[in-house]
Amino acid sequence: MKQILVLNGPNLNLLGRREPDIYGDASMEGCLATLQERFPEVHLHYYQSNVEGELINKLHEVGFIYDGIVFNAGAYTHTSVALHDAIKAIETPVVEVHISNVYQRETYRHTSLITGACVGVIGGFGMDSYRLAIEAILAL
Ligand code: DQA
Repeated sequence: MKQILVLNGPNLNLLGRREPDIYGDASMEGCLATLQERFPEVHLHYYQSNVEGELINKLHEVGFIYDGIVFNAGAYTHTSVALHDAIKAIETPVVEVHISNVYQRETYRHTSLITGACVGVIGGFGMDSYRLAIEAILAL
């Protein structure tokens, strides 16, 4: 069975309550349940942290074992060379995900420091971005 990690960065533990006009009102728990039903052939794992180093540790932990990582690095997307390096350092393909269309938002969100290390990027489709990223990993 394929193993895929959905990895969420800072403030994404508040999905469903955080700025619902931008991120919607669905919780991550509900989204994960829907995803697991949709992809019964995949063992979906989930990890969220607000701490940059913990995200790096998780990438190292699964990055030579799992078949794919769906990564919403939140605001670290725009700031973290360390996450870029961690993604480069592992073998598992990483798909960058954003719930919102970052290019319709503040200019400081238009730069991603991790895209260059990822196989691709999906954003702007709400929580469906996660499903599309899993589809992309399964199609690799
Ligand atoms: C986000 C976009 C980022 O700019 C922001 O900092 C987030 C969420 C998204 O999913 O749209 O925390 O990654």
